[in-house]
Amino acid sequence: MTNTMKLQMSLLSIALLLGTPAAFGDAAALYAKNCASCHAKDGSGDTKMGKKAGARDYRDATVQASFSDAEGLKAIKEGVTKDGKEKMKAYGSKVSDAEAKELLAYIRTFKK
Ligand code: HEC
Repeated sequence: MTNTMKLQMSLLSIALLLGTPAAFGDAAALYAKNCASCHAKDGSGDTKMGKKAGARDYRDATVQASFSDAEGLKAIKEGVTKDGKEKMKAYGSKVSDAEAKELLAYIRTFKK
């Protein structure tokens, strides 16, 4: 291996190390700003708005298992409607695809 390759590899690992927590910090901030009013800071859905809208408890493994990653992403981007009523608005125009994935990954961390 050449020295240049070694340097490139160590730069890459530094970027990976620094990148992960920063991305998660963004998701946490996005969640706190846009989602916690219903889904609560701990994912329980135990807020005034969350109870009204019918947000489920994401700490519950059964609830987590009830939707796939694809369904979760769809909900974030397109919103949730039940019986013709909007329960959760679409965030597709507010968050990028990458951010939607990070938000979903963040929601998955609530599982106990
Ligand atoms: C106005 C209240 C409200 C807000 C704000 C809100 N949600 Fe929801 N969300 C709901 C309700 C109600 C449901 C349907 C019941 C459930 O799964 O909790 C839901 C469902 C979901 C689901 C699961 C979809 C499924 O297939 O069951 C995900 C994932 C989700 N929301 C993520 C988010 C994210 C991320 C944000 C912020 C960008 C957000 N929600 C903001 C009310 C809200």
